Amino acid sequence: MKTQLFVYTGTGNSLWIARRLALELNEAALEFMQFPLSDLKVEADRVGIIFPVHIWGLPVRVIQFINHLQVNPETYLFALAVNAGQPAATLLQLQRLMSARQGLLSAGYSMVLPSNYIPWGGPGPTEKQQRLFKEAQGKVKAIAGSILRGERRRVDRGPLWQNVLFSWIYQISFRSVHKLDKNFWVDDKCNRCGICSKVCPAQNIEMVNEKPVWLHRCEQCLACLQWCPQEAIQYGKKTVKYLRYHHPEVILKDMLEQAKPNKV
Ligand SMILES: Cc1cc2nc3c(=O)[nH]c(=O)nc-3n(C[C@H](O)[C@H](O)[C@H](O)COP(=O)(O)O)c2cc1C
Ligand code: SF4
Ligand code: SF4
Repeated sequence: MKTQLFVYTGTGNSLWIARRLALELNEAALEFMQFPLSDLKVEADRVGIIFPVHIWGLPVRVIQFINHLQVNPETYLFALAVNAGQPAATLLQLQRLMSARQGLLSAGYSMVLPSNYIPWGGPGPTEKQQRLFKEAQGKVKAIAGSILRGERRRVDRGPLWQNVLFSWIYQISFRSVHKLDKNFWVDDKCNRCGICSKVCPAQNIEMVNEKPVWLHRCEQCLACLQWCPQEAIQYGKKTVKYLRYHHPEVILKDMLEQAKPNKV
């Protein structure tokens, strides 16, 4: 049986999970979720998507990807929503989106890893991060077993109050996500290396006079801020004092691979 995984990531958490899952699923194929330019027909028996939760819902890229994904009706579809403890109704949203398009989501799992949402603080102490990585490894093994057995289960979700309240906030925020990059600014540590521009999966950063300029088609993955080697990118007023984060086993080269522009 062939398994195909697609991943989207800002700071490597989802990529790390996807790689571990691919190994557990007997070397499943793994690809980055490119921003779709046309419909994508996938013939695998099992298709899984792994992505971060953004603002209590699906990132714009994941919605676009699902809207262009074509699978056979009998395909076993599953998802891992990587988050910092509040998946809310993200997997229910995915379930609705998939059923409107190509079929049933057979299983959907929440995976908790350190937070990369720096405007609300850093990723937490190292011991807590290590604990989350360890717990995630155990959960990935269990999930892989369930997938290999072809089990169908209710998707993970948050408490009802979070699902209602946060889904409402998601609806309101979603429309303006692409413009949230107006809050980025660069301090005088910038050494003009251009990495922020190269790492952006949305090609949303242009170097003008050797300084980054954001072009308002942002996906809010925070890769630019978190991967800047000088920690020179700030978001609003508070990030100056917060620690940067990316998964310790994911390297810049991985992120540059994801950010390669689509072939037309
Ligand atoms: C814009 C943005 C919004 C986020 N919103 C949520 C959220 O609603 N709930 C949550 O638990 N984590 C949230 N997070 C945290 C990420 O989901 C979490 O850190 C995830 O592991 C990041 O995965 P990645 O490294 O693959 O990008 C958010 C992160 C970003 C950048
Ligand atoms: S990655 Fe950081 S240091 Fe390099 S150009 Fe961008 S802002 Fe400047
Ligand atoms: S500008 Fe930054 S936050 Fe926005 S999509 Fe690009 S890398 Fe992600």
